[in-house]
Amino acid sequence: MTDQPKTDHPEGLSGRERMLRAARRQPVDGPPVWIMRQAGRYLPEYHEIRQLGSFMETCRHAERAAEITCQPIRRFGMDAAVIFSDILVPAEAMGMDVSFEEGKGPRVQPALRSRADVDRLHAFDPEEDTGFLADAIRRVRKEVGAEQAIIGFCGAPFTTASYMIEGQSSRNFENTKAMLHGDPETFRELLDKIVDALIPYLGMQVDAGADVLQIFDSWGGALSAATYRESLFPPMERLVCATKALGCPVILYVNGDSHLLELLADLGPDVIGIDWRVDPTDARARIGDRTALQGNLDPSALFAPAETVVRMTEETLDRFGDAPGHIFNLGSGVLPKTPVECVQAVIETVQRRRNP
Ligand code: CP3
Repeated sequence: MTDQPKTDHPEGLSGRERMLRAARRQPVDGPPVWIMRQAGRYLPEYHEIRQLGSFMETCRHAERAAEITCQPIRRFGMDAAVIFSDILVPAEAMGMDVSFEEGKGPRVQPALRSRADVDRLHAFDPEEDTGFLADAIRRVRKEVGAEQAIIGFCGAPFTTASYMIEGQSSRNFENTKAMLHGDPETFRELLDKIVDALIPYLGMQVDAGADVLQIFDSWGGALSAATYRESLFPPMERLVCATKALGCPVILYVNGDSHLLELLADLGPDVIGIDWRVDPTDARARIGDRTALQGNLDPSALFAPAETVVRMTEETLDRFGDAPGHIFNLGSGVLPKTPVECVQAVIETVQRRRNP
């Protein structure tokens, strides 16, 4: 008998510890790694499960959602498992009809265009209406134990609102910007309603076992810094503050955020995601020590031969350097047709860099 506590990792950190420490800018043995959209379409085992039902049915099926979440972990041993779900789950719970047509992306109906439309959205009870997500998180925890961090998430108010207003994916966000600039009161009311719904929804994910939360503002980069600051900052700040109060690190990801970095840091998240167009040295110079960084290999680079992917992963690691506070990821979600061996090359290259 010894007094030493027993640990599964006498040799070092678990993936969960590595992820949580890096998010808080504490020293680690090397950057943790996970990949946005890692639970998804590039994996043949995902396609097998998807045969069993529609995308939204799969999200609502806790056992399938947990299985899909764990598939990439079993193959590659990432440090974090992002829960399989979608940013549009709360939109459905607020009363909208959400569906996905093959090849066409999301449809969110009926699209919101007026104050009366916005008034029809309703609050929801996270456990009652989206309890399948909590159930999925608890199932994932049973499988990964303390080895992996579990990442819960939501869409940011602007990104969520853009789907509600456009009714589908959009390139230019004409209707969204028409409301934002033309009827700012209604737009603000919509964002506030979304934030009110998201706070307890994220709380449920933490109660179920999520260790880290990511806010996806996938389309926030379509706005100028001035518009983002004026129209999105107050609801975003409320969301980030309330999320941090849940006690776990918050990652804020905005695709196309090179013009927004200082503003995003002002929102006070623990981690800012940067896409591949941002130079990590430049991001550090602009943000300083205020947040950790996540990113930023170009997802399209994974279509190059595996040796090239290894080299580009190493170059990305070098650009971030050894300073604490880097979570390795792609600069946006992994693309559907990505070769599995190139995902493997990324993960293994990051794992090889760890100090013994
Ligand atoms: O990261 C993960 O692996 C966790 C699961 C996850 C999904 N969507 C699964 C999914 C996460 C975190 C998301 C977030 C999400 N959903 C975002 C933000 C992420 C980003 O890349 O910026 C957005 C914009 C959405 C909305 C959405 N859902 C879109 C645009 C699509 C693609 C539509 C299409 O068919 O091309 C989805 C569907 C979706 N979400 C799939 C998956 C695995 C594919 C559905 C399928 O099986 O066909």
